[in-house]
Amino acid sequence: MNLTMEKLTSTDLIELEDKHGAHNYHPLPVVLARGEGVYVWDVEGKKYFDFLSAYSAVNQGHCHPKIIGAMIEQAQKLTLTSRAFYNDTLGEYEKYVTEYFCFDKVLPMNTGAEAVETAIKLCRKWAYEKKGVDENQAVIVVCDGNFHGRTTTIVSFSNDEGARKNFGPFTPGFISIPYNDVDALEKVLENKNVVGFLVEPIQGEAGVYVPADGYLKKSYDLCKKHNVLFIADEVQTGIARTGKLLAVYHENVQPDILILGKAISGGVYPVSAVLANNDIMMVIKPGQHGSTFGGNPIAAKVAMAALEVVKEEKLAENALYLGAIFRKEMQRIIDKTDLVVSVRGKGLLNAIIINDTEQSETAWNLCVQLKDNGLLAKPTHGNIIRFAPPLVMNEDQLMECVAIIEKTITEFKR
Ligand SMILES: Cc1ncc(COP(=O)(O)O)c(C=O)c1O
Repeated sequence: MNLTMEKLTSTDLIELEDKHGAHNYHPLPVVLARGEGVYVWDVEGKKYFDFLSAYSAVNQGHCHPKIIGAMIEQAQKLTLTSRAFYNDTLGEYEKYVTEYFCFDKVLPMNTGAEAVETAIKLCRKWAYEKKGVDENQAVIVVCDGNFHGRTTTIVSFSNDEGARKNFGPFTPGFISIPYNDVDALEKVLENKNVVGFLVEPIQGEAGVYVPADGYLKKSYDLCKKHNVLFIADEVQTGIARTGKLLAVYHENVQPDILILGKAISGGVYPVSAVLANNDIMMVIKPGQHGSTFGGNPIAAKVAMAALEVVKEEKLAENALYLGAIFRKEMQRIIDKTDLVVSVRGKGLLNAIIINDTEQSETAWNLCVQLKDNGLLAKPTHGNIIRFAPPLVMNEDQLMECVAIIEKTITEFKR
């Protein structure tokens, strides 16, 4: 392939990635070159509805002018100081984000996995220094089917064999219990070394598993009863995706530790955050945790703009409204096909379950057909397809998407 050629085709670009990049992902065969709002375009100029939103990072839509404007303006002034020095944007952002989510303090990081790691360290340190657990005995409870990222510690408590196999030895100090099972939590909390419960309000990667109403509140109350920190990983569910600013707000829960990532920057820049009140956050002292890029001036400005857009454009309300329509429409389609078994989700985080085995190619092939018909989505696990469009979508656009999905399902041949 001649890289000096004016324009590379999708095939050329896929070949380039295949040859020179690690094969740690298996993308759908589409090569995107531009995005605006709910749309993306491939290198040949074909337009698509984005129905994944970079795993719920692009909630505010692609290249939102306000967020991009904030980034450009800051990038021309100051990009990185490290935390060796103060800068003139971080304090403003810290005030903004803590007031926005009603916490005393924020610890800024860059990626979701880093924020989860931060929350784990914070919880352990709190356990030894505040709760009085014996050194190295702290246990954090997680749920079967969890997805919290890809670092060595995080995969240590995953039960996805693909994520774990041959990556050991693993980090100890975690117990996994069934998701959506209050009794299992109550039982494990009898262990006095349990110090935290790390939970996704909806298990996104696992296939958009929505727990029973009341699960989060009951779990939170049990944690309070046992002086255990309730740690909400809202990296995927947060920032309006499920029809509330945070998914835990559906049950009026304010977590002890809140983990945010993805859409806190509108998908424009890697930004993540861990929020907690002083009694927890202040156990971390200078030199005990950090990141060169965490809280950098661009991240600070981008995150403030992204969070303002969520409120100004009422994205939570829109997600709640459109989500209900979407599930109703999916149910209508499901009622007349045997290809899809069910739809589930909250707000605009939804999934359809394909009537085939987890090992089958049916969901993948359906996503390829959806792509050909102008809509981009991806299977999560085998036979489950997640549907998570940008939250700036309007009702007409949603109905166009429903029509594409209906046509694709109706015409699909196994
Ligand atoms: C719930 C949850 N936590 C953590 C992560 C990890 O985020 P990142 O990929 O930015 O490390 C993800 C990513 O999908 C996620 O869905």
